This record gives sequence, C-alpha cells and structure tokens, in this order.
Amino acid sequence: MPESPFYTAVESRRTVRNFLPDPVPQEVLDRALDAARLAPSSSNLQPWEFVIIRDPKVRQAANAACLDQMPAKIAPVLIALVTHRDTWHRNRDEILRIFEARGPLRRSQETYYRRILPLVYITGPFGILGPLKRLFSRIGSLFRPTPNLMSRADIRVMAHKSTALAAATFMLAMRAEGYDTCPMEGFDPWRAKALLGLPRGAEVNMFLAVGKRSEKGVWWDRVLMPREWAVREL
Ligand SMILES: Cc1cc2nc3c(=O)[nH]c(=O)nc-3n(C[C@H](O)[C@H](O)[C@H](O)COP(=O)(O)O)c2cc1C
Repeated sequence: MPESPFYTAVESRRTVRNFLPDPVPQEVLDRALDAARLAPSSSNLQPWEFVIIRDPKVRQAANAACLDQMPAKIAPVLIALVTHRDTWHRNRDEILRIFEARGPLRRSQETYYRRILPLVYITGPFGILGPLKRLFSRIGSLFRPTPNLMSRADIRVMAHKSTALAAATFMLAMRAEGYDTCPMEGFDPWRAKALLGLPRGAEVNMFLAVGKRSEKGVWWDRVLMPREWAVREL
C-alpha cells in the first residue's frame, strides 16, 4: 500500500481484545466521533447515535450484555453504537431547515426530500404498507428499472448499513489517533436495548470497545480471503 497516514491507519487497524488501562483523552474521542459523523449515509439521514457509557453501573450491565467478552470488560471506554430507523422524519426536516437557511430550496432538494423520501420511508401502521410497496416495486422492475420502495425490514437494513459506515470511520479515526477498537456484535440485543432505554425503532448496531492496545491486544495474525473472492470485474 502507498505510504500515507490514511493507509497506515487502515493497515494498522486490528481488532484489539486486550487494552492498557490508560484513559482515552476526551479530545481524541471527540475528534474520532466528529470524523464518524462525516460518514456517508443513505439520503444523508445519519441514522446513528454513539452512546458513550460512563456510568459504572450501566457499564457493568453493558459488559454483561456484551456477554462479558474480554474487550468489553477491559477497555477503558465502551460505546454502544445505536441505529435509528424512525428518525428519518426529524432528520429530513433538519436537512430541509439547513438547506433553507442557506438559500432558496432547489427543486431537486424539494422533490427528493419532500416527495420521494416519504414514499420510501412511510410503511403505514404496523408496517402494513411495506409488503405492498415491495411487491409493487418488484412488479415494476419486471418492466423497467425500479427502486425498492421499502418495507420496514428493508429500512432496517438501510439504517444498519449507514451506521456501520460510521463505525468504520470511527475505528479508522481512532487508529489514526494511535488508539484501538474492538467492534462487537456478540451481545444480547434485547438487554442492550432495554439498558439504553431505546425506543421501538432503535437498536444497537454494535458495541465498540476503545483504548490503547496492550502487548496481548491482537490475538491472531491477519487472515485475508483470496483477492479474487473479494474483487472481480464483469
Ligand atoms: C460487525 C462486526 C462484529 C464483530 N463482533 C465481534 C465480537 O463480538 N467479538 C469479537 O471479539 N470480535 C468481533 N468482531 C471482530 C472481528 O472478528 C474481526 O474484525 C475480524 O476477525 C478481522 O480481524 P481484524 O479486525 O483484526 O482485521 C466483529 C467485527 C465486526 C465488523
């Protein structure tokens, strides 16, 4: 890989499962969180929320929700990364507010955020419209390229995709700062949700253990699939 701070961060990022007790300075954490906020997201809706767990009692319960995995127990900082699939309305309004504060709304902005977005996101009570929208899209696709007018499950996938990109950006930013992370989806999703008091349309995307790697931090040498399994041309 070419020599650059970016590739150095990418290459040296590893999942770290054993941390030094050194605290993570707040300004380092803040810079990485602000980098993560720049991650791309579907329709720029930024459906994520990083919950930094400070309260020792909550932390203990969060460690347990993470099945008492070593990185959760030992990291100086534990973050629950939450994905929200129901904040689209609020966030859409915020996008429009910001656009409008910058000047007259463009027609494309108006059409996309006021007309197209609700078509995609509204699924009716109990998501009842979702399967119909999906079927409608599938039939349309037999005749011409048609976007998937999503069901609730599709929206959930979309929110998780965007949130995972914020996670990746955060992990690389922490590495660029000389710190390490362990992403964890090995946790009890029901207990995690209850612990954080999340509303219905929200769930934990992953936990992130954060700190400085100890000598025993990286458990295995990197294992990579053959390049041709990961990349192909058509
Ligand atoms: C979404 C996701 C969930 C993961 N969950 C866990 C986990 O619960 N516990 C754990 O020890 N590692 C977890 N990992 C770390 C992976 O095992 C690790 O990324 C993989 O083995 C590659 O190693 P590397 O990150 O050091 O390159 C997770 C990684 C991702 C991306």
